[in-house]
Amino acid sequence: MDRPSQLIECGEFVLRRLRGQRDFVQLFTLIEQSRDHLRPWMPWADGHDEQSTRELLASSETKWESGELYNYVVAENGELIGMCQAYRAEPRGCRLGYWLHPCAVGRGIATRATAALAKEMFALADVGYLEIAHDVANAPSRAVPRRLGFTELRREQAPPPAAPSGCGIDLIWRLNRPATGGTFPGGRAGGTNSACSTAST
Ligand SMILES: CC(C)(COP(=O)(O)OP(=O)(O)OC[C@H]1O[C@@H](n2cnc3c(N)ncnc32)[C@H](O)[C@@H]1OP(=O)(O)O)[C@@H](O)C(=O)NCCC(=O)NCCS
Repeated sequence: MDRPSQLIECGEFVLRRLRGQRDFVQLFTLIEQSRDHLRPWMPWADGHDEQSTRELLASSETKWESGELYNYVVAENGELIGMCQAYRAEPRGCRLGYWLHPCAVGRGIATRATAALAKEMFALADVGYLEIAHDVANAPSRAVPRRLGFTELRREQAPPPAAPSGCGIDLIWRLNRPATGGTFPGGRAGGTNSACSTAST
């Protein structure tokens, strides 16, 4: 089975595959520091604890091997600043997800990380399209697929549990595999630096 690269270079930051329990301290700290920022949109953030981080690391290993989920941390200068993932939703379709430490927002990192992961996923022969799903009320998340040229596909009832700030309706965006020779739009170049410190690797 084809798999995406374990390390994806994105200029001043990288996406790298989780390293199992060796990432425990850094990932636990990253989620803990991001918790208030994630809580409105990611219901799992409320239940975050040491055990859930260990379970996430263990399942990420298993699911990478099975090709079900490719889970990456976003790292800059050795510090973890967010996560990005692709998971198999349908035989030829993958869903992309992303979140950032609150100090890493506003610099185009989520957009550029998603663009880089999309390009990597389209390099796999069996990926025909990519989707992004977010609550209709999540404006910062909505801007990511819009910048990358995804098209609004449909709205559907969000699966439980509900996001505290969500309206309960998910917007699904899709991007089809570019035709041979076609280019993927990707993100804008550039961005500024953040002075905040996050979980060190
Ligand atoms: C969703 C989330 C990752 C979006 O973060 P974000 O910082 O808005 O997105 P980006 O990193 O792409 O940055 C975009 C911003 O950087 C700016 N920017 C600077 N350089 C840029 C570049 N090279 N490319 C794109 N945007 C750039 C954009 O203009 C935009 O600024 P604005 O917010 O003032 O309009 C973040 O809000 C988050 O972590 N939310 C909580 C978790 C969550 O909701 N996850 C998604 C669940 S579906």
